[in-house]
Amino acid sequence: MGDTPRRTLWTGVCALALGLALVHAQETPPTYVKNALCLACHKGLDEGMTERFALTRHAKLATAEEDEEGNEIKWEEMKPIDLYRRTVGFNPEDNSYYEKGIGCQACHGPGSAHATASADKKATMKRIDELETPRQKLSVCGRCHGEYTVGDQPFAAEFKTGDDLFAREDFKLAEITTPGPFQQLNELESSKHGEHDVTCITCHTSHEETEAKPQLRQAMPELCLQCHGEEHPCTVAPEQIPEGATCATCHMPEGRHVFAVAP
Ligand code: HEC
Ligand code: HEC
Ligand code: HEC
Ligand code: HEC
Ligand code: HEC
Ligand code: HEC
Repeated sequence: MGDTPRRTLWTGVCALALGLALVHAQETPPTYVKNALCLACHKGLDEGMTERFALTRHAKLATAEEDEEGNEIKWEEMKPIDLYRRTVGFNPEDNSYYEKGIGCQACHGPGSAHATASADKKATMKRIDELETPRQKLSVCGRCHGEYTVGDQPFAAEFKTGDDLFAREDFKLAEITTPGPFQQLNELESSKHGEHDVTCITCHTSHEETEAKPQLRQAMPELCLQCHGEEHPCTVAPEQIPEGATCATCHMPEGRHVFAVAP
């Protein structure tokens, strides 16, 4: 008789403990944390990396007042697609976002679990260069640097690092139009590079502006000659090659990633 309330109490405690254990096991998905937190910790981990990142166009966008053409950036008036491309954690339901600019989590994904992990930090953050397929790597940059639809929306709102846009049934890449400043994904896909493991990060750095702009791993022609021989079957006579021409002059007209030959 006397131990009934105690048993009830114990049952209650056990149920509570079980409940907590279940909540823990379900692993709430990571959320975004302030970019400043990533910077604060990584500043001490990899010397100069956060300073170099701060000089990229991506990082500067958080505080930029003017766009490339010198027009005032009006955040309140931006279309959803433009906000999606310029913020971290865009939410299409009310066009809100977590933070302005292309911070660390724009490419690496939400980092709350990583930032607070007490054990193996590496295990809590995927390395983009170690993703399995070229298309997974391409999708990280291409979700912003591409024109496409997912269902009836011009962006992939719930995209996570490691996702393959192309694997989605409702994903449709748009036809290439000119001018199209955000069609690098479309252009690259149309070229032979798209059929091989030549992705954005083959040619571009992610954290630093380099002497070879924009964020090229090497200047041309070295960048291209890693894979292409000096003696490529270029049918243009030497005297017709414009002065100061690079491989891009002929194969990337107007900076476009078509890797074809200008007509
Ligand atoms: C409390 C400190 C801390 C914070 C905050 C933090 N990191 Fe890290 N991060 C680490 C450590 C430690 C490593 C492992 C470095 C090593 O062992 O080389 C790491 C590794 C990484 C890696 C590489 C993983 C790998 O497999 O090599 C990425 C990417 C990364 N962090 C991104 C971020 C991003 C994005 C943020 C902000 C959301 C962030 N970190 C916040 C400490 C931190
Ligand atoms: C534009 C996308 C992008 C942004 C923004 C970005 N990263 Fe990365 N990060 C990458 C890619 C891609 C790699 C794989 C290596 C490479 O391509 O250089 C990488 C690699 C890393 C690594 C592994 C070690 C290394 O240097 O290769 C760490 C750590 C890391 N990032 C942390 C950060 C932190 C911290 C920030 C913010 C200051 C950040 N990243 C911003 C794309 C990005
Ligand atoms: C969240 C969207 C987003 C992601 C993800 C993203 N970018 Fe960008 N990127 C932009 C925007 C927006 C600009 C143009 C900024 C401007 O001009 O104001 C830009 C500009 C650039 C530039 C031009 C820099 C310059 O100096 O003119 C390069 C190169 C670039 N991105 C490469 C990459 C690569 C490589 C990746 C993947 C590792 C990537 N981006 C991921 C949105 C993104
Ligand atoms: C084979 C190398 C290569 C690959 C792959 C590549 N790029 Fe580029 N990218 C370049 C070069 C070279 C330039 C500079 C072109 C010039 O000088 O006219 C450039 C320029 C850019 C620019 C500046 C604006 C523009 O279009 O001129 C952006 C943004 C950019 N790349 C993003 C990307 C993204 C995103 C991907 C992946 C979808 C990608 N690049 C894949 C070599 C590459
Ligand atoms: C990582 C290796 C790699 C790099 C770096 C690279 N390419 Fe390529 N490129 C390839 C491969 C692989 C092919 C496809 C060859 C084939 O199918 O015969 C290709 C094909 C091409 C083609 C032929 C396209 C066609 O439709 O026939 C052109 C043009 C080209 N690349 C130009 C460039 C230029 C310009 C650069 C530097 C900005 C560059 N590549 C950098 C690997 C690379
Ligand atoms: C003056 C313009 C010009 C310049 C500069 C130029 N190319 Fe070419 N390239 C051409 C033409 C024209 C073709 C032949 C296209 C065709 O097959 O009809 C070609 C063909 C190619 C091909 C395709 C070969 C094949 O198998 O079909 C590759 C790869 C290539 N160029 C790479 C490069 C690289 C790398 C550089 C820089 C070192 C470069 N090109 C500089 C005009 C140029």
